[in-house]
Amino acid sequence: MTKPVIVARGLTKHYGQLTAVKGIGFAIQPGECFGFLGPNGAGKTSTMRMIYGFSPVSAGELFVLGWDVQRDIRQIKHHLGVIPQEDNLDPDLKVLQNLLVYARYFDIPKNIARERAREALELLQLWERREAFIRELSGGMKRRLIFARALVNRPQMIIADEPTTGLDPQARHLVWQKLRQLQARGVTLVLTTHYMEEAAQLCDRLAIMDHGVILERGAPQALISKHVRPEVFELYLSNGAEEQLDRKLRGLPVQVEHLGDALYLYTQNGRLLRDELEGVTGIQRLVQRQATLEDVFLKLTGRALGES
Ligand SMILES: Nc1ncnc2c1ncn2[C@@H]1O[C@H](COP(=O)(O)OP(=O)(O)O)[C@@H](O)[C@H]1O
Ligand SMILES: [Mg+2]
Repeated sequence: MTKPVIVARGLTKHYGQLTAVKGIGFAIQPGECFGFLGPNGAGKTSTMRMIYGFSPVSAGELFVLGWDVQRDIRQIKHHLGVIPQEDNLDPDLKVLQNLLVYARYFDIPKNIARERAREALELLQLWERREAFIRELSGGMKRRLIFARALVNRPQMIIADEPTTGLDPQARHLVWQKLRQLQARGVTLVLTTHYMEEAAQLCDRLAIMDHGVILERGAPQALISKHVRPEVFELYLSNGAEEQLDRKLRGLPVQVEHLGDALYLYTQNGRLLRDELEGVTGIQRLVQRQATLEDVFLKLTGRALGES
């Protein structure tokens, strides 16, 4: 194992009486894409803000690129590209100006800043809009501009808090593609998301967070294999049909979860279960699909990722 680029031990965040992050530990390796997946309120943003030095650590230890965030945040910031969850662009500046002003914080000489700003704006398909005012941009464009801004200091690591929330599918795929390109160049990615598809697509490893703790961690596919069987049947039953189904399933290697009025059956062998279900009356709707991280979350918490 190489030396991790982020190490947290007992990391804690209090806001008055509320403890948003409850003593979590993790280690992120150089060059990997590490994701924090969890519903709203899980503590993802609080964790990211401590990593990029926006919000003080309440307790525990946190080292980024070998430095202690509680002592050496200036050095750390130099090497980080941050995509915060909220829009913090300067509304009084135009698109290109936003990046140039940002570059000053890093003491990047003007001519180099211009070059890098151009490169970043081209990468995120915003160069044409360089003279637009921030207020003229759509939400998706602002999000992409924040991403472009995070590249101006050529960061070793990108901290992206919900990088694609609010984007349309096309823009989301653009962002995914750019994040992958950066990773291919050796940049470490740390991201948060409540989209299980995003987590599955981008992340080498994940920490699943809920209510301020890490419930599970691992590679997306490994988490799915560990917690649920690979094929899922989503059933909606009419009243009274569940008893009949229970009898049918008795003795079969099927894992059952309830979510609202849906019943999820997990199995190793979809064909076998499908045959068994043939004879059950009262199935109003049936969807057969592959298991996802959403199923892992349901297994761990009894809730859907979208609920808080
Ligand atoms: N600045 C703050 N002051 C008080 N409570 C906060 C603040 N920021 C977040 N919280 C609370 O901390 C918990 C975790 O929030 P957050 O870290 O934003 O989670 P997530 O990013 O996973 O949605 C929530 O209950 C939220 O309301
Ligand atoms: Mg958040």
